[in-house]
Amino acid sequence: MAVTVRALREDDYAQWRPLWDGYTRFYDCVLDESVTAATWERALNPDSAMFCRVAESEGRVIGFALCILHDGTWSTAPICYLEDLFVDENVRGAGTGQALIAALMEEGKREGWSKLYWVTRENNPARKLYDRFGEADDYVRYRISL
Ligand SMILES: CC(C)(COP(=O)(O)OP(=O)(O)OC[C@H]1O[C@@H](n2cnc3c(N)ncnc32)[C@H](O)[C@@H]1OP(=O)(O)O)[C@@H](O)C(=O)NCCC(=O)NCCS
Repeated sequence: MAVTVRALREDDYAQWRPLWDGYTRFYDCVLDESVTAATWERALNPDSAMFCRVAESEGRVIGFALCILHDGTWSTAPICYLEDLFVDENVRGAGTGQALIAALMEEGKREGWSKLYWVTRENNPARKLYDRFGEADDYVRYRISL
């Protein structure tokens, strides 16, 4: 299956939306419509730190990676946080997830980011894919809802 990765476009909405809904369902998360709308808008806005890359095969959008570029205290170069990664469940296991991460790595090298990172649940079976890119570190996350 030939997969290309490209920037999200305005006219992707009809294809992106069911993928986004699949992603929030995967996490049993019910998001207010205004949050989805804001995420969509920021992902398209070149002035936002948020951006989205989509995987396309035969003209169909089959997956996405939503990321945030942020500053860090230990480097002057931007750091990329891959916050959301999702592939249409009908085409999983065919290399799309790998293509999305590999494309972000290529982009980051080109653009001079210092790091690409993401967090996942300890038991997420997708770690089989992630382990191909490197080892997970031993940091744990503290999170306080405000
Ligand atoms: C994670 C995800 C994006 C991977 O997409 P994908 O296109 O299936 O990934 P790839 O085909 O590139 O995967 C490569 C390998 O990892 C394995 N793998 C990846 N995700 C897997 C999953 N969820 N379950 C089981 N195996 C998985 C594949 O089987 C494949 O191994 P193989 O080549 O030995 O068969 C996709 O499974 C998904 O959308 N999952 C639900 C949402 C999710 O977990 N997102 C990530 C949150 S951190």
